[in-house]
Amino acid sequence: MTFINKEETMNLSNLNLPPKGVVAIVGTQWGDEGKGKIVDLLADTWADVIARGTGGANAGHTICVNDKSHVFHLMPSGILSGKPCYLGSGVAFDPEVMRFEMDELGGLGKSYDYLRISRDAHLVTPIHTILDRVHESKAKSGKIGTTGRGIGPTFTAHYAREGLRVVDLLNPDKLWEKLNKYLHAHTAELSATRIAVKDVMQADEFLTQFADEKNIIDLERMHQAYVEFGERLRPFIADTDSLVRQAVEDGLCVLLEGAQATLLSIDYGMYPMVTSSDSTVAGLAKGVGLRESQVDLCIGIVKAPYTSKVGGGSFPTRLGSAADDEIYSGTTPNINSTDPGKQGAALRRAGKEYGATTGRPRDCGWLDLPLLRYALQFGGDVMAMTKADVLDGCAVIRICTHYIYRGLDYDFGDSVLKSGDQVDVAFGDDDLLGHMEPQYQEFPGWQGDITTIRSYDDLPPELLDIIEYIEADVGSKFAIVSVGPDRQETIIR
Ligand code: GDP
Ligand code: IMO
Ligand code: MG
Repeated sequence: MTFINKEETMNLSNLNLPPKGVVAIVGTQWGDEGKGKIVDLLADTWADVIARGTGGANAGHTICVNDKSHVFHLMPSGILSGKPCYLGSGVAFDPEVMRFEMDELGGLGKSYDYLRISRDAHLVTPIHTILDRVHESKAKSGKIGTTGRGIGPTFTAHYAREGLRVVDLLNPDKLWEKLNKYLHAHTAELSATRIAVKDVMQADEFLTQFADEKNIIDLERMHQAYVEFGERLRPFIADTDSLVRQAVEDGLCVLLEGAQATLLSIDYGMYPMVTSSDSTVAGLAKGVGLRESQVDLCIGIVKAPYTSKVGGGSFPTRLGSAADDEIYSGTTPNINSTDPGKQGAALRRAGKEYGATTGRPRDCGWLDLPLLRYALQFGGDVMAMTKADVLDGCAVIRICTHYIYRGLDYDFGDSVLKSGDQVDVAFGDDDLLGHMEPQYQEFPGWQGDITTIRSYDDLPPELLDIIEYIEADVGSKFAIVSVGPDRQETIIR
């Protein structure tokens, strides 16, 4: 990976980015749409500062420059630009993940001098991480399939008014007081499920060091480690939300990097199979200290015409199941197979759909327009399409236009959904989504490799037809079409 070479940067003039102000990048589906790629592109070219405001180390944002790739979980994806990067007050901050990512960058000779971490960010501790993993391993059915990064318990603690904050790392006495006051009770809860806790701790080198003789967290050891984190991180801890507001006031170009995506938002996603922060532009703005109305342009990233999902929850257009991925090992599944499992596996292979955070195979399926229309209500002034190149050589492309409801009568109060009803909207409810039978429109695919195309008009007519169909349906334009993972493999319309 190289540092940014200004001469190589792309001409973004067609994108009509505001000359100054705030641009936000958000995912419109279930995450992994390619937000990191677009953030990296705009960080390199347009932005003066970059800020993240939601999620935590559950994110996995991949950046490819000149055939070299890098995955960031907590570190903002703009870090390679050498520009100021902020982690806002809305982020769940895990100091061990940050230590790892700092050391990794340092090992590559990259600077992170201009990183600043909000003193008010929510502090993830080993107890939150263990609680997350134990809850998941104990769940019998309906597992959320979390990333195991302690995100749920950390935000739960925040809303229970028992959360710790990054600034506590700098105040050892206060930290000790809070650990005892807020986290002591959890060690009792965990001791009731000792076997699972032991398994969880032994599987993780970082967590193992805090095990006491009963394999429960030793608070004193944890306190010491966290005070040491505070010493290392001291130069990076700041009131980043004020810095972001100041940057806006100074007329700088402020780029907001979304994590997760609308369908995973705690407020608007397919509840309860969601993450624990609001991953829409509203949550993102708030998480860096801004008002949503201060965002001048929100770019919604859309993985299309296929899409992906990882973790539990309903996915009406899913092709086969990623859980069966091993069945296809050693084979080359065909993208034109009539067997949905094989076709899904072919998309997974071609799109390299294996989680950047957990390595889990991602489920793949067709683009779902009711869900995209639903998501765009919460943000996405313009869209960026990613990964169409994965469908090179696919003879027939299907797009879900509406559903038929197949479930028990469902009473909304002012209306009742009945089995057999045609439905062209989505609801923020995972269970209802699971009873929707997708109805498709078929489109002819294209032959040949589109990754080398750099002009919108040179894209195959079949893809242009699909793009125009989606745009007309959702009432929003694709300003960017990404045709490969590399920064250069991008078409600005
Ligand atoms: P994020 O979480 O939204 O940042 O997305 P991830 O990085 O988790 O997953 C997106 C994956 O797709 C990464 O491996 C990217 O390098 C890759 N990618 C992004 N855009 C494209 C594209 O247009 N085509 C292809 N083939 N890969 C892409
Ligand atoms: P990026 O930013 C895809 C999913 C998990 C799980 C649910 C809750 O890379 O797009 P959590 O650990 O947050 O409590 O898990 O949310 N999830 C993601 N899926 N991309 C992500 O981030 C995700 N972050 C969380 O798989 O279903
Ligand atoms: Mg990701």
